[in-house]
Amino acid sequence: MSLKKVAVIGAGNVGAEIANQIVCRELANIVLIDKYGDIAKGKALDILTSAALKNSSSSIIGSDDFTLVTDSDIVIITAGLPRKPGMSREELVEANGNIISEIVTNIKKFAPNSIIIIVTNPLDVMTYLAYKISGFKPEKVLGMAGVLDTARFKTFIAEELGVTARDVNAVVLGGHGDEMVPLIDCTTVAGIPIKQLADDATIEKIVERTRKGGIEIVNLLKTGSAYYAPAVSAVEMTEAIIKDKKSIMPVSVYLQGEYGLNDIYFGVPAVLGTGGAEKVVEFKLNNDALEKLKTSANVVRETIEKLKCIK
Ligand code: NAI
Ligand code: 2OP
Repeated sequence: MSLKKVAVIGAGNVGAEIANQIVCRELANIVLIDKYGDIAKGKALDILTSAALKNSSSSIIGSDDFTLVTDSDIVIITAGLPRKPGMSREELVEANGNIISEIVTNIKKFAPNSIIIIVTNPLDVMTYLAYKISGFKPEKVLGMAGVLDTARFKTFIAEELGVTARDVNAVVLGGHGDEMVPLIDCTTVAGIPIKQLADDATIEKIVERTRKGGIEIVNLLKTGSAYYAPAVSAVEMTEAIIKDKKSIMPVSVYLQGEYGLNDIYFGVPAVLGTGGAEKVVEFKLNNDALEKLKTSANVVRETIEKLKCIK
């Protein structure tokens, strides 16, 4: 069976690691596009060489030539600025909005049947912009954040309790920002509700650390933001789509009334398969979680208002 074609736009920290992971897993053939073509070429050649050592038959080419994106099955966009210490993701809206507009216009031209996965921040707003500019069906445009935020939540719970993160079952909903909503009532460790294993103060500390999980790494790195876990998160989504896994993952999807929200991209559970985000999963939340989701949605809406490129 021939491999699918995945285009990764942006050969920076996240984009290159996504390409590397896809080649490692032999999931697809890759084109890696960056405005700096030689950097994309150099990283692609390095990854291709590692494929020979890993017995992967995935191919990869790097370029600044967008025509190579032609007929891609999935396009993952990581192009854009990362934040610096002291910056919020929302402050990137104008600069990254212009980059996303240009790239999505090209995707529409060269890969009109693709599924677009956005990674660029501010995530929910850039995904909304990609949806509006592409004119694609909503299920074919989705954003990566909830998978990463949930992985952080699980990691911090595991660290606090001294257990393996594999035993933690949890989900983080909402926008990819400081108001994201880790769902305490849905969190279990080896089937045991978290509230029976940790006191309120400890749980609150874990929630706060999850919300600030991105900036904790930005402050340590000094230049740039996290990329290993973000890359694996995007590749998990890509794999679910390519293999039609029907996995339920928290992803940024277009809401049309679900959770009381309309015309917004927002992090909620969805079924991922060949069609993209095939179904938004709606389930009953307590009033506290619903209120927190509303607050988070307001931040996303305020940032959408700042988008000049779709006005
Ligand atoms: P980076 O600076 O390492 O890479 C960005 C790349 O985009 C650079 O190589 C740059 O040359 C390229 N680029 C810029 N404009 C372009 C254009 N018009 N066409 C093609 N390439 C272009 O940044 P990094 O760390 O890879 O992060 C990328 C984005 O992903 C940032 O906005 C960051 O905030 C976001 N991010 C989002 C996460 C999430 O959870 N959704 C997690 C991690 C990063
Ligand atoms: C993160 O949460 C930068 O949004 C990215 O690490």
